Formats: sequence, C-alpha cells, structure tokens
Amino acid sequence: MKFFVDTADIAEIRDLADTGLLDGVTTNPSLVAKSGRRFVELIAEICDVVNGPVSAEVASTDYETMMAEGRHLAKISHRVAVKVPLTPAGLKVCKALSSDGHMVNVTLCFSPAQAILAAKAGATFVSPFVGRLDDVGQDGMGIITDICEIYRNYVNFRTEVLVASIRNPIHIVKAARLGAHVVTAPPSVLRQLFNHPLTDKGLAQFVEDWKKTGQSIL
Ligand code: E4P
Repeated sequence: MKFFVDTADIAEIRDLADTGLLDGVTTNPSLVAKSGRRFVELIAEICDVVNGPVSAEVASTDYETMMAEGRHLAKISHRVAVKVPLTPAGLKVCKALSSDGHMVNVTLCFSPAQAILAAKAGATFVSPFVGRLDDVGQDGMGIITDICEIYRNYVNFRTEVLVASIRNPIHIVKAARLGAHVVTAPPSVLRQLFNHPLTDKGLAQFVEDWKKTGQSIL
C-alpha cells in the first residue's frame, strides 16, 4: 500500500519524506489557499522533495481551460498527476491527458458508479472521499469495498484506488484490508500510525533494563 500525504505545507512534506515511508503527495485548491504559496512554484518544489506522484488540481471547470491548465501543470514535472473533478468535462480531460501519457487523478468521487467512469476514462488514480461521506451520514468505507471489488473484476481497469478524505488511522487500516492501492491522509493522521502506548511503555522499560547491564553495544 502506498502512503501519500494530503497537504500543501512544504515543511510537513519534507519532514514526512524524511521517514522514507512517503510515496507521494496530494494537494487541492483549499490546501493551496491555506499554504499562501504560489501554486506552480509550490508544486515544482514538492516534486523536488518527493520521489513519487504529486497531485496538482486544475482550477477551472470547463473542458478547454482544464485541458490548458492540465497541460501546463504536467509540464512542471513527470511526477505531476493532474487532478480533475469527476464531471463529464473532467473525465473528458482525463481521457485526453492519459492518452497523451500523463498521470491523472480523478477527484471528488463519491460513488462506485463514478469510479467505474474514472477507470473507463483511463485515470491513473481515482480518489473516493470517505470522510466527507461519513460526515453526511453515509458509509465512506462501504464505497471503497465496492470500488475495489469492481476494479478486481476487470483486468483492463488499471486505475489505482486512492482513498482520500481520511480522518483517522482506522480508515487507513480498513483501506489496507480491502486492498486499496493508496491512501492520502493529513500529516497528523500519518504520524498517528507510528504510535501505540505499549510501544512507548515497552521501550522505556527496555532502556531502563539495558542500563542495568552496564554494557555498550558499540
Ligand atoms: C484528496 O485528494 C483531497 O485533497 C482530500 O483528501 C480531501 O480531504 P478533506 O475531506 O479532509 O478535505
């Protein structure tokens, strides 16, 4: 399973890249607005830091302008995955850019039916938003179950399931159990994965007991 971080905060990205466990980055217009950075420069900087796909989202909603924006973003680096919304125009852009050899992430997916369309449009990634479905009282992980099952039925569907809008480590564990290819989570949630109180307790005990031996390994 690949781990992407969902942020436009370059300091957070550098810090998580340093763990050696980060496989990519996703951004969206809200995260970019929060960062206060110039978008194109920011994406170029992220591509230099992370050795994996970096999702950069188009800002327009009509086909022509999304195509121009997508081509512009794709020129930044071969690591850029152009992010397009799951709309008829967005899927048309997906098909065109993926036919040209660019990575495309189809975002704002909220149903298995939409995920089928993304795969047919040749998306590299489809991003179903589990947290936002949970927020409105629907079963976010339920659509991941359905999408993974559907994609497994068709060998010509190469699209990877990128579980997005992750709110907690349980979402990540459930996504892994279902065989989802990728999760993208906020930095705080990725850091939570490392923690268990029994790890801290056990380590403190081992350190204490090792001192009693009076030995040094080096
Ligand atoms: C995915 O690509 C999106 O940027 C993201 O996961 C949205 O998450 P949110 O619902 O926490 O805003």
